[in-house]
Amino acid sequence: MDDYKFTGQTALITGAASGMGFLTSKCLVESGANVVMLDIDEKTLKEKAKEIGADYLICDVRRYKDIEAAVLYAKDKYGSVDITVSYAGGCPSRVCKAGKNFNDLPIEVIDWGVEVNFRAPLYIARAAFNIMRDQKRGVIINISSIDALTGSNAADYSAEKSGLYGLTKSIALLGAPHGVRCCCVTPGPVLTRLDMANMKTPLGRAAEVREVVDMVLYLCSDKAAFITGANFTVDGGRQCGARD
Ligand SMILES: NC(=O)c1ccc[n+]([C@@H]2O[C@H](COP(=O)([O-])OP(=O)(O)OC[C@H]3O[C@@H](n4cnc5c(N)ncnc54)[C@H](O)[C@@H]3O)[C@@H](O)[C@H]2O)c1
Repeated sequence: MDDYKFTGQTALITGAASGMGFLTSKCLVESGANVVMLDIDEKTLKEKAKEIGADYLICDVRRYKDIEAAVLYAKDKYGSVDITVSYAGGCPSRVCKAGKNFNDLPIEVIDWGVEVNFRAPLYIARAAFNIMRDQKRGVIINISSIDALTGSNAADYSAEKSGLYGLTKSIALLGAPHGVRCCCVTPGPVLTRLDMANMKTPLGRAAEVREVVDMVLYLCSDKAAFITGANFTVDGGRQCGARD
């Protein structure tokens, strides 16, 4: 990780036990950051944190008190909270194995998605913002999905993820006078799971995990000091429509 230096900075990563959250945590550790990995999957989180030498906390992002405790833990232990990235989440029908279409989903599945995909990034921003404001430095990254831009059978997931655009712009406006930036990254299919290779893109493939993580690392870094309130789509052109 020669490209970036995060020495002395402290990052909180949700959904860190797996996929993009794990690789982001690893890259940040390698670039000198104090990383507190947050996840609900206790066993995997412990193993993965040990593997890369990161700190960790069991955290259910559906609970504000868990998130607040994580933010205060990082501030007390490391002295600052410089970066948050909200990866925890996923398409509710898939994660909860509940069929495909919104109109057939049990309401509990819809509630799960709203809480994890939309409400949790709101909670993170609420919990971290004042600390970042007072230290005059911070970056909040939200992770959306291409389904937010295109619409999908998963109306709930599309809606939750598109809500992050309003959150991103609003936190950017609130934070701008105080050195706090907020950006959103919108991935298309990413190979955190092999079946994502079946989702079509004009470029003919799904993203390597690193291709999305690179965008996140860039936005977290001082190289992106003039960027806030913006969304970056990393989707192989999927938002342009289908390729014959
Ligand atoms: N993989 C893709 O193709 C893709 C595409 C677009 C958007 N995304 C979004 O990117 C994010 C990361 O995707 P991924 O494929 O790397 O995820 P993943 O499924 O590999 O990991 C998600 C992590 O979130 C954790 N988690 C779930 N519920 C939680 C809770 N209540 N509290 C704390 N942690 C919880 C899980 O334990 C898991 O470790 C998700 O928000 C997803 O919606 C993914």
